[in-house]
Amino acid sequence: MPAVPGQPIYDVDLYSDEVLRDPYPHYKALRELGAVVWLPQNGLHAVARFEDVRAALRNPAVFSSAQGVAANDHVNTISRGTTLASDAPLHDRLRAIIAAPLLPRALEEIAPQIRTEARRLVDELVDRGQFDAVSDLAQHLPLTIVSKLVGLEDHGRSSMLRWAAATFNVLGSMNARACTALKDVQEMRAYLGGDEIRSRLRTGSWGDRIFAAADRGEVEPERCPVLMRDYLGPSLDTTIFATANLVLLFGRHPAQWDLVRNDPPLIPNAINEALRLESPVRGFTRHLAADATIGGLTIPRESRLLLLYASANRDERKWQDPERFDVKRRANDHLGFGNGTHMCAGLHLARLEMTALLEVLVERVAGFEIGEPVLALNNVLRGLAALPVRVKRA
Ligand code: HEM
Repeated sequence: MPAVPGQPIYDVDLYSDEVLRDPYPHYKALRELGAVVWLPQNGLHAVARFEDVRAALRNPAVFSSAQGVAANDHVNTISRGTTLASDAPLHDRLRAIIAAPLLPRALEEIAPQIRTEARRLVDELVDRGQFDAVSDLAQHLPLTIVSKLVGLEDHGRSSMLRWAAATFNVLGSMNARACTALKDVQEMRAYLGGDEIRSRLRTGSWGDRIFAAADRGEVEPERCPVLMRDYLGPSLDTTIFATANLVLLFGRHPAQWDLVRNDPPLIPNAINEALRLESPVRGFTRHLAADATIGGLTIPRESRLLLLYASANRDERKWQDPERFDVKRRANDHLGFGNGTHMCAGLHLARLEMTALLEVLVERVAGFEIGEPVLALNNVLRGLAALPVRVKRA
């Protein structure tokens, strides 16, 4: 649906390389233009201010996910019926199944294993003195722990990473990046949907539990591969980017690292602040199930809205001095994990992984000397492909 009368227009492709390299000035321009801005190049209405994004996320009856959360029709059609792309009551049923092992009480069981692995890894890297914050540090826990928990430990690291990046690339507009990624998503679907997948899963693993739920009649058997994708797709690059962003921010702001080293209980807040300032998920879309009035403009039902979490997290209406990295800021209500009914199902695991690494890093590292970061261009995610680091040992 095109612009409504009186609506501000922003004639920039929000999925172009140029915007992906530095989206923040564009987000600022959108916030200044109005509460809901028409993007003619993407065929979307952009919502970029904090209060409006959060209100939309908290109103799934109007801002629906059931028609998909991508910025293109093809993926919105093929992805319907996943946890991410569904509304109640289906969403509640699917989410209950996948969220069970990701709840804090269930994670207590695996927390010691994650902490031990984090200590082993950080000790090894700090002894080495220099490493890559993405491939050596940030990728390790998501790749080893998550694939093991899902029950697919023997599958190739490179396939997993390719599939994870593709999962998000196809959720943008159908540009060249998304077209290439579609092939990878099809490969992932074929692998997870194959007849032999159940026999490959370790007994008691998260994947195995999904099939057990189908045996009990809690979910249709054909949905099992889809639910497995809910673990693999969104759990890797998100956490990897968030972890590497922490190193980047602490490398750029050594005084903030000193604050955390001297007061490790600041770690959870530092993680929130980094997710606020450099949100790995820039935004998803919603489909209007009814007319919605945003900032005085009524957008008709059937329109598609782009909710920009990464912009909301820098909205000057909400945050004082929003571009400053401040580990003491009260940042816990950022939208980096979304909000409302679709709020990230894996946030406790992501926090656990990042906390485990930081707890050892504060003991062992006095400071990070960072080299030139290499950006990973992804239609939906923001993060690094590489970040050379040399550490000063504590
Ligand atoms: C720092 C790391 C992470 C970030 C920034 C992140 C971000 C997000 C965001 C913004 C959403 C909301 C989607 C929406 O509004 O439609 C979401 C949903 C989701 N995330 Fe995460 N995520 C992270 C880690 C993880 C992990 C580790 C897992 C799984 C093990 C995971 C699984 C999911 C699932 C299944 C959903 C869909 C929930 C639903 O629709 O009810 N995420 N995530």
